[in-house]
Amino acid sequence: MSMLTAYDYPSALLAEEAGIDLILVGDSLGNVVLGYDTTLPVTIDDMVYHTRSVVRGAQNTFIVADMPFMTYHGGVDETLRGVRRLMQEGRAHAVKMEGGLEICEAVSAVTKAGVPVLGHIGLTPQSVNMIGGYRIQGKDPEDAQRLMNEAKALEAAGAFGIVLELVTEEVAEAITKALSIPTIGIGAGRYCDGQVLVFHDLVRYASPYREKRFVKTYADVGSIIREGISSYVKEVKERSFPAEDHVFNADEHVLESLYGA
Ligand code: KIV
Ligand code: NA
Repeated sequence: MSMLTAYDYPSALLAEEAGIDLILVGDSLGNVVLGYDTTLPVTIDDMVYHTRSVVRGAQNTFIVADMPFMTYHGGVDETLRGVRRLMQEGRAHAVKMEGGLEICEAVSAVTKAGVPVLGHIGLTPQSVNMIGGYRIQGKDPEDAQRLMNEAKALEAAGAFGIVLELVTEEVAEAITKALSIPTIGIGAGRYCDGQVLVFHDLVRYASPYREKRFVKTYADVGSIIREGISSYVKEVKERSFPAEDHVFNADEHVLESLYGA
């Protein structure tokens, strides 16, 4: 199962044309599209706006939208209001939420409302200030057991799948074996049921991130775009663009009216 993020019409169109199974409108939007240094500033309005454009670009692909920071930790009513907006205004097919036991009540309420929920455990970027950095999860026995318990609780709460982010390969494999719902890994090794990557990382499209071990760059689109733009700048300055091929010419009598016979 291949999953890729998309944030707008062209990225969604390209992902669908390339045969991606599932699209995630991730709140990584904050980092790779909006230029924030975390996902915390991303709002429901941002997610609705971007999800709508993704849906227009990929009309035949299952689209999951992230619930942003702090939109599913209050009452169930508030959670359902945000979910309603992503589904009804954004037109997503499912939502994703980060967290373990503390969000199981929300997951259960949302699935009871008829909305599929994708879980997300391991490194959960919305909690970066609690976790204290973007570090690998599942390195010691207590941490491994915590992740396993979270995964099982999310399955029991009704999640249709779980994203495992930055989890050691062995722990991700054990969780995958223990669950009946699929796991989708990012930096979680080879044995998850599916994989997810951030669009801008996969094609190196002006991503603010440094090199990451768990990312494979399949195309260097950023360099191609940069070279194209710098050629344009150069040609405009030296007046070689536009050339004869790119212009529209008026008839002879127009010239006469402008300059006299
Ligand atoms: O926002 C995102 O792109 C994500 C993926 C990294 C799973 O949550
Ligand atoms: Na996300």
